[in-house]
Amino acid sequence: MSELFTSDSGRSDTSAASSPSLSLPIAAMRTTVVAVVMVILCVMMVHADVKPQKDFNLQRFAGKWYRVGLAYDSLSFVPFRDKLKASMGIITALPNGNVNLTMWDATTLSCRSKLYQYERTSVPGQFTYFSTRHNVVKDITVVDTNYNEYAVVLKHKVFNREYTQVALYGRSQRVRIDVINKFKAFALSRGFPRDSILTPTPAENCPPSGSGP
Ligand SMILES: *[C@@H]1O[C@H](CO)[C@@H](O)[C@H](O)[C@H]1NC(C)=O
Repeated sequence: MSELFTSDSGRSDTSAASSPSLSLPIAAMRTTVVAVVMVILCVMMVHADVKPQKDFNLQRFAGKWYRVGLAYDSLSFVPFRDKLKASMGIITALPNGNVNLTMWDATTLSCRSKLYQYERTSVPGQFTYFSTRHNVVKDITVVDTNYNEYAVVLKHKVFNREYTQVALYGRSQRVRIDVINKFKAFALSRGFPRDSILTPTPAENCPPSGSGP
């Protein structure tokens, strides 16, 4: 049994001591300091490291997936939110542990495929890739997968741990509602606003029937 979307949760062990004999300005200052510490802890929890799927197996992860969920909190993406389709992708495991991902993109006018090349890291389930669009190296972490039904994949910029996307992949175009709900809860826990968490409808005829594997 695989646990759904397990991740490290932030730890906090602050012990807030209070003294009733404090004069008012000092008490107010203390309140401010506690508030600031709380805010910092919250930010740290949102950006806490996420561990990849335990005993990640690339061979089992390979093959056809549909991107049935996407959390993407980018202003430039807002106009495209309602146009997003659950497109198809194919993961090819290379002998050296790297990955070729062919991802289809359905727009109103066309259906194009794009190749992404993920490079392995020393951590199984974690990859890096160079985004030519953003001109930056990004981390890809397979957070949780049971291989035959769903996979949750987190994408973020490597150095500042800024999360840019969470994707839910399904082996079929529809996945169980509790998988969707866990995905939404996970994206919310990573700080994505509710309206940035999308579960698009299936792409039709993309890739065109007959040309897909
Ligand atoms: C992976 O992609 C590279 C670059 O396009 C290509 O040369 C290579 O043949 C691909 N490998 C497989 C196994 O598809």
